[in-house]
Amino acid sequence: MVPVVRRLLIDLEAPFERGWCGGDPFLTALFDALSMSFPVGEQFFIDSVRAALEQLPAERRDEFAERTRAFIGQEATHRRIHSLFNEQLLGQGLVNDWEKRALVRIGWLADVDRRHWLAATAAYEHLTAILAQWLLRNPHVLDGAEPRLRTMWLWHSAEETEHRSVAFDLHHAIGGDRRWRLKWFRRVTTFFLADVMRQTLSNLRRSGTLWQRRTWRSAAHHLFGRGGLARETFAPWREYFRADFHPDQRPDDLARRWIDENTAAYTVAGPASGR
Ligand SMILES: [Fe+2]
Ligand SMILES: [Fe+2]
Repeated sequence: MVPVVRRLLIDLEAPFERGWCGGDPFLTALFDALSMSFPVGEQFFIDSVRAALEQLPAERRDEFAERTRAFIGQEATHRRIHSLFNEQLLGQGLVNDWEKRALVRIGWLADVDRRHWLAATAAYEHLTAILAQWLLRNPHVLDGAEPRLRTMWLWHSAEETEHRSVAFDLHHAIGGDRRWRLKWFRRVTTFFLADVMRQTLSNLRRSGTLWQRRTWRSAAHHLFGRGGLARETFAPWREYFRADFHPDQRPDDLARRWIDENTAAYTVAGPASGR
């Protein structure tokens, strides 16, 4: 799929409730945690692919220019939308510690070869693509959410599917090494799991819902029950280690369908410069 930059027609200035995801404390805290990581993470992805494009030999730059521009445009739009969403979370009393930790780690990478940045970006892109796939397969988890927020999450999921192979292909194009890509994938997975757990627990604690029985019942069901996150994402997570793996081997029919069936939710903006 060639990524397309879309402007989402939803109002994120209007306030939403603390338990916006159908009153389910666990799902609300989990989605809030993920959203908190996006503005800083997506800026890092943008910087990585932009640096990679500059490193490409001139004769290969045209081949990647359009996809990279569209990737940057999509991630820049996601950053803006999730920043508005996150502002409301902070106003509701949540604290974004994930972002602070991510900024420290990105600082450590300042002088590192950009091929490592791309390997880390490709790893995060695989994680976001499999989370997106899970959400597109199980949209009922957002059934009780406000329609505009449901739209925001499904739009983001569809676009993550659309641009999932850009960082991966660029990493190969600038001479990235498979061993390093897998090393970063293991590292990124460890950071991601620790960060998402810590931030979800913090959100629950600050919402006063950490010790409610319904919180843990929902967590058990949505992680380990039928169609649960842990159950459904383990196999696609493991595919990354296969010698012949490429992100486009994963299905994209649900993303295409969402894009086709929800044209009233967005306008097409075309490739943008980002940032
Ligand atoms: Fe994104
Ligand atoms: Fe992405």
